[in-house]
Amino acid sequence: MSHIDKKFVETFGQSPDIIAAAPGRVNLIGEHIDYSDGFVLPFAINDRTYAAVRVRDDRKIRIASIQRKNRIVEVNLDVVKPGLKGEWERYPLGVMWAMGLEKGIDIMIDGHVPLGAGLSSSAALECSVATALNHLFSFGYSLEELARLTQKAENEYVGVPCGIMDQSVSLMAQTGSALLLDCRDLTTQNIAFDVASSGLELLIIDTQAHHSLTDGGYAERRAACESVVKKLEIKSLRELDLITLEASRSKISDTEFKRARHAVTEMKRVMEAVLALETKNFVALGILLNQSHASLRDDYNVSCPELNAAVEASLSAGALGARMVGGGFGGSAIALIKAAQVRETIAAVEKVFVENKFKAPRFFTSLPSQGAEIIQRG
Ligand code: GLA
Repeated sequence: MSHIDKKFVETFGQSPDIIAAAPGRVNLIGEHIDYSDGFVLPFAINDRTYAAVRVRDDRKIRIASIQRKNRIVEVNLDVVKPGLKGEWERYPLGVMWAMGLEKGIDIMIDGHVPLGAGLSSSAALECSVATALNHLFSFGYSLEELARLTQKAENEYVGVPCGIMDQSVSLMAQTGSALLLDCRDLTTQNIAFDVASSGLELLIIDTQAHHSLTDGGYAERRAACESVVKKLEIKSLRELDLITLEASRSKISDTEFKRARHAVTEMKRVMEAVLALETKNFVALGILLNQSHASLRDDYNVSCPELNAAVEASLSAGALGARMVGGGFGGSAIALIKAAQVRETIAAVEKVFVENKFKAPRFFTSLPSQGAEIIQRG
């Protein structure tokens, strides 16, 4: 009996019907362009969230989480609508709402994706629940549909204006590969991502700096992109190239110009990164990571002192490339380093953080892992 299985029985008195798991993610490159119809290149990390579910024969929803000491939150399905107040349970409830759940359930969550680290613990939670419900009730939603439904849950129920990347990769990722995702139509291609055989490692540095997509900075970036799209009368920034953008400079504000320049150049970098991975040219990949960071820092203005310090310290310790990942304003950075230099890099980052009186950072490594899956049927 697995840990979650045991906790489920302890809490709800019976065994679950199904247990699903879904991972967090790291985005290798392609930041802040999922909502501009861009290509992104994330991969799933090892850490995942588990959702164990049992069908009830009434319309009651009981939710508990091992991390919240199994305290049960109870609501009736009829009141599960956007606007219902709550805490973390709004994520699973939002998924139930978006999927059109019609029966009560007991649900237990066991989350192992670090919270607030920019590693998409919320997508892991949503996608574990969606995967469990999809199978349990034979909804028959495709992975693309599940990605859209879980995004809808987060946008409309939880109220976070996120794009489609995190949910897509949590659902669709394959072991050993980064996922080249076309955010316009959700088509994907698996790009082999094996740094280890080249003696490299991708270090994940959680800066422990505050990370929240609800503070307005994220929404402001999206709005700037949408404004450019409107003013230039195009469908999305995907249609734009640098020459047209330069030529249209007088039609948009300076800030909008910078935001759009990030999007246009980042979309190009994703394609170059795919080529770099396919040819195992990790030096080229490192340069692209650095360029991505500079663009996010200077044109998109979503970095922060902790992220910049983590990137700079990694580079001075010999990293091939480093950049902030995710929404920004805190969260994690990645550094592509020689496997032999892990300790040195960690020491360099720790030293700079102490010098700057930043909160102590945390370090992870992860191979590209499997997307959401059913791990047990009762
Ligand atoms: C967050 C959002 C994603 C994406 C990234 C930035 O993780 O949830 O949709 O926009 O930020 O690339």
